Amino acid sequence: MYRIDIGIDLGTANVKVYMRDKGIVITQPSVVAYDTKTKTIVAVGSKAKKMLGKTPEHIEVVKPLKHGVVSNYTLTERMIKAFVKNAMQKRKIWGRPNICVCVPSRITEVEKKAVEDAVLRTGAREIFVLESAVAAALGAKLDIMETYGHMVIDIGAGTTDIAVLSAGGIAEGNSLKVAGDDYTEALIKYVRRHHNVLLGELSAEEVKCEIGSVCKRKKEMSYVVKGKNMVSGLPVKVELGSEEIREAFKDVTEQILNAICAVIENAPPELIADVSREGIVLSGGGSLMYGIDHLIQEKTGIKVIKADKPFDTVANGAGTASEYIREQEELI
Ligand SMILES: Nc1ncnc2c1ncn2[C@@H]1O[C@H](COP(=O)(O)OP(=O)(O)OP(=O)(O)O)[C@@H](O)[C@H]1O
Ligand SMILES: [Mg+2]
Repeated sequence: MYRIDIGIDLGTANVKVYMRDKGIVITQPSVVAYDTKTKTIVAVGSKAKKMLGKTPEHIEVVKPLKHGVVSNYTLTERMIKAFVKNAMQKRKIWGRPNICVCVPSRITEVEKKAVEDAVLRTGAREIFVLESAVAAALGAKLDIMETYGHMVIDIGAGTTDIAVLSAGGIAEGNSLKVAGDDYTEALIKYVRRHHNVLLGELSAEEVKCEIGSVCKRKKEMSYVVKGKNMVSGLPVKVELGSEEIREAFKDVTEQILNAICAVIENAPPELIADVSREGIVLSGGGSLMYGIDHLIQEKTGIKVIKADKPFDTVANGAGTASEYIREQEELI
């Protein structure tokens, strides 16, 4: 029998850890600060994220995951170890824990193995790797074992996982390598081109979260942000309006909407008929973008339901997947 003790959503931007009987115990940025001189980890999580763009040369601030995939194996392992250790202190678990970790769908076996190995080295007993879209559906409490079409879209930082599920599996899906962080990048590019100002990643993300939108706001907003003038190299303030930001976001939004439509087009019609009755569940931090739910609804003609705590949906699903995994094993 398989019982999951810890569920991990190893996200490109944030790691979320679910602990059995406790719920989400950790939400921390997937960032590691590393001292290249002493070859030691200086900080992990939010402490490391605050150091982005602000460290001396010998301290590297690294995001060890790119688009949901391990890009720096050693640092990913060290980061997971730190988070799992931290989580284990929140609740006593006898022996080594069984861990369920999520990965984007359609990653290669090599990429999957890299995640599995990194988690295994934390001292786990058994590891189960679950596709993020399945975990999102479980986290949203959809009964995916029944033969009925459900649809989930998880917009994270580096990937948008889209899936139509039925009878315990993904009937049609896509994992697009475009998501929340691409909005941040698009904004940096726009401000560089139109205002001659270089914005740091943290500042751009702040603007995006504060006034970013993909649909017209009831009341347009503006935000003053500090950057560096491209010509003089001196610090400057620039006022950005929500309308121009929407312009900067257009391309990214279009790619996400097109991918969603393609999945619906390719999915079996009976399942889409079910989805149109039930609606599409939207999760992930990127789903907090103002108006994205409305646009998806408008483009697909299907009702969109926003998940309760969109950051936590995938980790909640991973942490509560015991029954699903048991049923899957019985099917084999
Ligand atoms: N209020 C907001 N408006 C728009 N975007 C937001 C908001 N809050 C957070 N985000 C974005 O959500 C993303 C992080 O979401 P999440 O933690 O779900 O991603 P992740 O799981 O780490 O990434 P992935 O699933 O792609 O590996 C970031 O790009 C962040 O900027
Ligand atoms: Mg995610």
